Amino acid sequence: MSESKDADKLWGGRFSEPTDQFVERFTASVNFDQRLYRQDIAGSIAHARMLEKVGVLTSDEAQQIISGLQEIAGDIEVGNFQWSVALEDVHMNIEAELTRRIGITGKKLHTGRSRNDQVATDIRLYVRQEADAIAGLITRVQQGLLELAEREADTIMPGFTHLQTAQPVTFGHHLMAWFEMLQRDFGRLADCRKRLNLSPLGAAALAGTSYPIDRHFTASELGFDGPTRNSLDSVSDRDFAIELAAFASILLTHLSRFSEELVLWASSQFDFVDLPDKFCTGSSIMPQKKNPDVPELVRGKTGRVTGHLVSLLTLMKSQPLAYNKDNQEDKEPLFDLLDTVRDCLKAYGDMVPEIRAKRDSMRQAALRGYATATDLADYLVKKGIAFRDAHEIVGKSVAYGIQQGRDLSEFELAEFHQFSETIAEDVFDFLTLEGSVNARNHIGGTAPAQVREAIKIARAELQARTAD
Ligand code: ARG
Repeated sequence: MSESKDADKLWGGRFSEPTDQFVERFTASVNFDQRLYRQDIAGSIAHARMLEKVGVLTSDEAQQIISGLQEIAGDIEVGNFQWSVALEDVHMNIEAELTRRIGITGKKLHTGRSRNDQVATDIRLYVRQEADAIAGLITRVQQGLLELAEREADTIMPGFTHLQTAQPVTFGHHLMAWFEMLQRDFGRLADCRKRLNLSPLGAAALAGTSYPIDRHFTASELGFDGPTRNSLDSVSDRDFAIELAAFASILLTHLSRFSEELVLWASSQFDFVDLPDKFCTGSSIMPQKKNPDVPELVRGKTGRVTGHLVSLLTLMKSQPLAYNKDNQEDKEPLFDLLDTVRDCLKAYGDMVPEIRAKRDSMRQAALRGYATATDLADYLVKKGIAFRDAHEIVGKSVAYGIQQGRDLSEFELAEFHQFSETIAEDVFDFLTLEGSVNARNHIGGTAPAQVREAIKIARAELQARTAD
């Protein structure tokens, strides 16, 4: 990064003393906004083409500007570019370099625009690109879940409420619950993308410009659905960043729940899953340890992403129209959250298909804890007993089972008769884990047949998505 030379400043005209050295560093954003260089150059090229189209630039001028910008892009790409803090941000660094390379014509690029609409355009383009990458990464995690759910459609585990054994469920069904969360996240992301895909370019500093610009042209050059409608709003709106951060916070919240379960299940107390060694680490002191670092870290990163959402909301709170320098503070949280979301999804995309269910252990756990108690109550109801009475009978049976240290399915028929004469030999069909899950055979239920149906529908949805 090169030092300050005040003569370099693109706005130096009305100033009589150089910028304070500390203030120069304090106000500069180039250290972090240089990652917008591709978007910045794409925006400038679209702007130059438009200026040519409306006759503000000659074809020759526009061509010089475009070639110059393309060369600069190539140089930045290979790390052959000297960023300068004195030039404050990515926009002025590139513009100054353009003028250095092509001379006076470079100074015409900024006609009819401002850094305010320029930066608003750049961030939208950047967020759009990241949103598309993230959509692909979500789909990949979902594909992994479907693969695993298919393998484990018949695997029985205890389902929990209050983290107490509640009723038996299939592991495939549990995995499909995670799939559904990601399905909604994907939809939320698609919604944000729709709203962000409008072009602020042409709003200029805040009021528009007196040049005969064509905003539809630049919008379409940059792949936007059209221009934004109000110049004051265009340069100051950061809703799209907030929405993206809200989407990301919900997504990470989902991943944190998923992570929490994996961490619990990988423990020897649960022993439901085995995570591949390559996603875990050991302990430097306790040789037996295999720590589920990846899910733990993803769980931890939720705080960071939600923190960025709060930063962005607070950044925008009470800001008067139109652009304020505060807005420069949108980038670091936004970039970090996009990077974090990408990393977490990448880790999960790699890990999910390799999660191995410990089927026996899950089954043993489902057999403990009276998971089929509701099935016994439902059996009694089918035999004509009112549900509340059935609840009471089963409650007493469970208390007896706890005292005896035996599951309901291990009772003799005579033992059941202590609590209800209505119970007959056929009860044992209902007390098996398979009987219990198969009975819940309706849309959204845990029966393996329903899990397979849900997977089929989900596959078709993912296919339609990737065909778009
Ligand atoms: N670096 C600035 C930002 O990120 C660019 C826009 C600056 N505009 C201005 N009028 N100072 O927001």
